Amino acid sequence: MKTYKVDNVELVLAHPVNIETEWIGQTEPMRQLKACWLSIDIKDLPLTPRIIGYPGIGKTTLAIAAAKERGLDVYIMQCTSDTRPEDLLITPVLSEQGKISYHASPLLTAVICGGVAILDEGNRMSEKSWASLAGLFDNRRMIESVVAGITICAHKEFRAAVTMNEDSSTFEIPDYIMSRLQPGIQIPFPDRHDELQILSYSLPFSTSETLDMCVNFLQKAHGLDLPYSVRDGINALRYTAKMKSADPSEDTASLFQKAIVQILGEEALDLDTLATKRALSGEHIPSMNLGDFFFSDDNDLNPDSDSETDEENER
Ligand SMILES: Nc1ncnc2c1ncn2[C@@H]1O[C@H](COP(=O)(O)OP(=O)(O)OP(=O)(O)O)[C@@H](O)[C@H]1O
Ligand SMILES: [Mg+2]
Repeated sequence: MKTYKVDNVELVLAHPVNIETEWIGQTEPMRQLKACWLSIDIKDLPLTPRIIGYPGIGKTTLAIAAAKERGLDVYIMQCTSDTRPEDLLITPVLSEQGKISYHASPLLTAVICGGVAILDEGNRMSEKSWASLAGLFDNRRMIESVVAGITICAHKEFRAAVTMNEDSSTFEIPDYIMSRLQPGIQIPFPDRHDELQILSYSLPFSTSETLDMCVNFLQKAHGLDLPYSVRDGINALRYTAKMKSADPSEDTASLFQKAIVQILGEEALDLDTLATKRALSGEHIPSMNLGDFFFSDDNDLNPDSDSETDEENER
């Protein structure tokens, strides 16, 4: 148990997260995040960016991987609508002997030790809680705990990032807070090459057949701007592999299809209807058939493959 003393108040520090993480492909968001955390002059200050993107697209992974590349410990503060200002800093805990000990949050531990704090799902937190962090994320770089009656100046290596889902804001973050959480770093959907690398890195036991099915499915979905993410793909592949292992005689394509339905729902097999709907509303999106979800266009196993269509046209 690590402790730290400020103005005669002893704080019990939080533990950094210990996750094996590597960021694969998508070099631009990584480059932007690392640039935000640079300090290029004695007068310079690091920036605290918002990492934005669909759920499961890799926001938290990016922040952890960037922190590791900087050689800093990572502390994750999970933000919820119930997070109170003091939860962000210090929690008094009553011991059996009736003594109060003060436990520093992951955020405060990063502030003290000079680590990276990831405020995960920041847009779920209320204005009141955000307001308590205003001084930490501007040029003051300091924070005050009312509960312990102390003020703490941030270590010079302290860095932070806030992850936010585009579509699930619980609270509107006020402008004066947003102006301290700049810039916004958008994580786009990965391209086919990167997505394949991410999936095979995450699931090295998957076969190339299932990896291809999954990438084809995800790439089609990304093309339609549907919120199906890398995480959904990882879950579908993991579930497919488990079912296949339990019953090797089962057909892999049907297992993957079942996994998609159980994870994303029936509508995930109906991307072509969605594409048609969008096309009717004026957007040009190529229509798709079920075979497109599992096989690339030029794959002979695709019942709707280009070669067959060409042959049919010739007849
Ligand atoms: N570029 C990448 N390199 C390595 N892994 C990735 C990459 N992109 C996504 N992943 C993988 O995708 C999964 C989801 O990532 P992560 O949990 O970071 O998403 P998130 O955007 O933070 O999701 P949420 O909004 O639900 O918090 C993880 O298993 C992660 O390893
Ligand atoms: Mg996350």
